[in-house]
Amino acid sequence: MSTQIKIKNDLILKALRSQKTDRVPVWMMRQAGRYLPEYQAIRSTMSFLELCKNPQKAAEVSLQPYEILGVDAIIMFSDILVLLEPMGAGLDFDTGKPRFVNPTRSQEDLNKIIALDKNQLKDKCSYVYETIDEIKAKLNNEIPILGFAGAPWTLASYMIEGGGSKEFAEIKKMMYLNPKGMHELLEKLSISVTNYLINKLDTGVHAVQLFDTWASVLSIEDYQEFALPYQQKIISGIRAVHLDASITLYVNGVSNVIDFMIQSGANCLSIDWRANLKDIREYVSGQNLAIQGNFDPCALLGTKDQVKSKTLRMLEQAGPGPGYIANLGHGILPMVPVENARIFIKTVQSFSNH
Ligand code: CP3
Repeated sequence: MSTQIKIKNDLILKALRSQKTDRVPVWMMRQAGRYLPEYQAIRSTMSFLELCKNPQKAAEVSLQPYEILGVDAIIMFSDILVLLEPMGAGLDFDTGKPRFVNPTRSQEDLNKIIALDKNQLKDKCSYVYETIDEIKAKLNNEIPILGFAGAPWTLASYMIEGGGSKEFAEIKKMMYLNPKGMHELLEKLSISVTNYLINKLDTGVHAVQLFDTWASVLSIEDYQEFALPYQQKIISGIRAVHLDASITLYVNGVSNVIDFMIQSGANCLSIDWRANLKDIREYVSGQNLAIQGNFDPCALLGTKDQVKSKTLRMLEQAGPGPGYIANLGHGILPMVPVENARIFIKTVQSFSNH
């Protein structure tokens, strides 16, 4: 079971539960990343996958945003795609972008993908759990540690497209031509993801986030058939073991699907910058549902004054009620000046919401 030891700064854990906090807590998606020279220094000595598989170094880069910027949570350094390797989909980052050299497209390809149980994952992804242990050892219970995974639709999109995509034509083609095979794949992914996150919670992360970044490319009907049921399965599967696990769901492009995100069972919804934060907060009010977001990551490329005023604007839109975590609406970009990231974090932390 997850640790009961008191965390010194537990603002995020309280906000995730929609409890009152003295100030708004903040972290940034992809906060351990290339905009930090300290990250680049370590990355220049090894490949991205080598870094993911080196618990000592992965822990070190996980802690950098806390040491350098003072964020209110650590997200363990890894990637949503590393889980797919032991499931049978060969992954590389040789070009800097994720690539599956043999995309999963035929029924034969689909049959090769295996669902992993908790013990198989402990064995094949031991480095993930060792990274959590390393972070815990170094962090001394100062702030919470967040774990994460990709949701089945988003993971499947990389496996089937062979990498990132604009149109998502290959995965949609499979969805239309072979819906049974598509469901079988999503089912295998949801089993692995559930076990993967249960193991992370067992190892001591304090909350988890499920990334269904690309679920918003689906029509509303297809979302209900190919995304929502698997999000629900994972969330209820985790809660069958960790009764009160805190689970955040992220989708990029929430405006069409906010009702379905509510139905996922998550206790926090992470929203992108296109959504109006004030409207979303009003829409979910009274449902004990926390909201995370939603600063446009590109706005961190503006002037210092703009970063400050836009951050204040976001905080005003969030309003004074409990259950709000400041974050970006998607991952931080490599070209963001560290100083601007710091202004974002410090503006939130010095803002009084009372
Ligand atoms: O948030 C954190 O700091 C924790 C680590 C984290 C990474 N990726 C590190 C990373 C997390 C939570 C992710 C999630 C992730 N990875 C998602 C879901 C969220 C999202 O951004 O939509 C997705 C779709 C991926 C897949 C992925 N990984 C892509 C498409 C890329 C290449 C594009 C890019 O940003 O470079 C990655 C690589 C990646 N993952 C990097 C980092 C720090 C950069 C790799 C490098 O150092 O070269």
